[in-house]
Amino acid sequence: MHGGINHTIGVLFVCLGNICRSPMAEGAFRAASQARGLACHVDSAGTASYHIGHRPDPRAVEVASLKGIDISGQSARQIERNDFYRFSHIIALDRANLEGVRAKAPRDGTARLAMLMDAVEGRRGEPVADPYYGDTAAFEAAWSTISLGAEAWAELLLLEAKTMRA
Ligand code: 4NP
Repeated sequence: MHGGINHTIGVLFVCLGNICRSPMAEGAFRAASQARGLACHVDSAGTASYHIGHRPDPRAVEVASLKGIDISGQSARQIERNDFYRFSHIIALDRANLEGVRAKAPRDGTARLAMLMDAVEGRRGEPVADPYYGDTAAFEAAWSTISLGAEAWAELLLLEAKTMRA
């Protein structure tokens, strides 16, 4: 038996370290879903283990706070087997991490796997570049792309939730 929350929408955002991109995606998507009244469980994780237990990168915290979103309380973790049953959607920030997620997926996992930009018209499959070795501008660019993706997923999942209830 797996701890299941699959009766509702659960979204897990996944990047490499879970300290830059996926924490921003978690924050942006939580705000976007709350703004729409979409009830869902939101979390983020990394495919790698380097940063387990770490807070988000200060540059990610700063760029989110400029938009009024507080991500400072998040703590990095690595994606685990149970995530593939607990979450309805696992959304990767780039292609390598989607492949990393796929490689870890149990055969009977129920989560749908996708990329962040898949929900954005005309930008399907587009990766969010890793800003970790970049400057502030790289974090600002990552935030812009991520918030577009997060808004689009919130919109899409709101429609799906309505269809499920209908
Ligand atoms: P993230 O960025 O995957 O967006 O959290 C990275 C953070 C740390 C490392 C790589 C990417 N690292 O190699 O330590």
